[in-house]
Amino acid sequence: MNDRAAFQVLVLPYRQTAQGTEFALFRRADADCWQGVAGGGEAGKSPLQAARRETAEEAGLPHPACRTGLRSALPVRGRTPPCTATLLLASQGSTTSKETGMPLDSTGKISFDHIYAEPDPRSFFGTLGQVDYLIPQLAKPYFSKLIEEYRAERGVAEPTVLDVGCSYGVNAVLQRCNVTIDQLYDYYTGPDVLALDHEALLAADRGRVRSHAGTEDIRFIGLDNSGPALAYAQSAGFIDATIHADLEQDDPTPEQQDLLDGVDLVISTGCVGYVTDKTIARVAHGSRPWMAHFVLRMFSYDPVAARLAELGYQSAGVDGVFRQRRFASAEEQTQILDKLSSAGVDPEGLETDGWLYAQLYISRPAGAATELATVMNAVSPS
Ligand SMILES: C[S@@+](CC[C@H](N)C(=O)[O-])C[C@H]1O[C@@H](n2cnc3c(N)ncnc32)[C@H](O)[C@@H]1O
Repeated sequence: MNDRAAFQVLVLPYRQTAQGTEFALFRRADADCWQGVAGGGEAGKSPLQAARRETAEEAGLPHPACRTGLRSALPVRGRTPPCTATLLLASQGSTTSKETGMPLDSTGKISFDHIYAEPDPRSFFGTLGQVDYLIPQLAKPYFSKLIEEYRAERGVAEPTVLDVGCSYGVNAVLQRCNVTIDQLYDYYTGPDVLALDHEALLAADRGRVRSHAGTEDIRFIGLDNSGPALAYAQSAGFIDATIHADLEQDDPTPEQQDLLDGVDLVISTGCVGYVTDKTIARVAHGSRPWMAHFVLRMFSYDPVAARLAELGYQSAGVDGVFRQRRFASAEEQTQILDKLSSAGVDPEGLETDGWLYAQLYISRPAGAATELATVMNAVSPS
């Protein structure tokens, strides 16, 4: 018999469908109640390992990808000796990290897809804070400079900025409100904010934006394929309008094209890779906006630059590399190092040291991208 450990797991299996997220609940044979997959831990095994074993045994999912939804375990009442329970979510990922149990995407990166589709940004910040996701903060002064240059050259007082893959609108919040990404991590993972219900969280975020009213001279449109993230970002006032679309698959609707036709600048962090030249070309098609994309070194910008060149764009890289986030596990690092070597990118002293790095690319129509990239070289990183 296995030695019991002083913890239990409660697992909620789920799957994403076209209608949204479906959770599996089980009716107990011995009592008139419903519950997730539940079970006790074994000594020497982690809650993730216990969750995978119980889910495989009880729900018949042979290789579930499990992850914790909460940062800390909850006490189980009435147990002696004291015992805690960890709540986990499980899905049937095709490839999972052996270390973390989280799904790996087709590029070998840990897949964070689940955190982009929740009704509010708390999981987003709770999860990405653990891997020191920094890129929006590092990008901020570059986006500010791009907007300043555009204003000066085009004489547009209130430019419209499209954030591709905006998620909960982090790039807009950093531009609009006087906060850093570290402050956002602290805020959204603090016990007081974790205890708020949805409406109270929204009200607090609206207050954050209101308190910066008057400094707004940028209109933000968010483009994402996650409806919940866009809905939150717009309700909170982080962004002004949304384009809920997957432009990898579909052309924009006429209403979406109207919005795209008014875009002056396009920015992105952490999104090229999820989206390709297909999305960027569809976005560029209408108004030929200027663009700045922070792109992980494992992805090439060449296909985007080539597609944009057909639309009259020139593209150029900005000097330097930018820390995106830490690797989530040694296994993820190994996969990405392999991917970089097959792409002919030397990871020595960069990704070998435990961080994923991005590069900044500028694209603008009718030439002068190199000059604009040179101006961006003078920006002091934040
Ligand atoms: C790594 S997150 C980056 C979020 C944000 N830009 C940031 O840096 O905090 C990637 C985002 O791309 C979105 N995304 C993934 N595939 C997409 C697609 N085909 N079209 C639009 N957005 C997509 C995801 O929903 C997610 O919000």
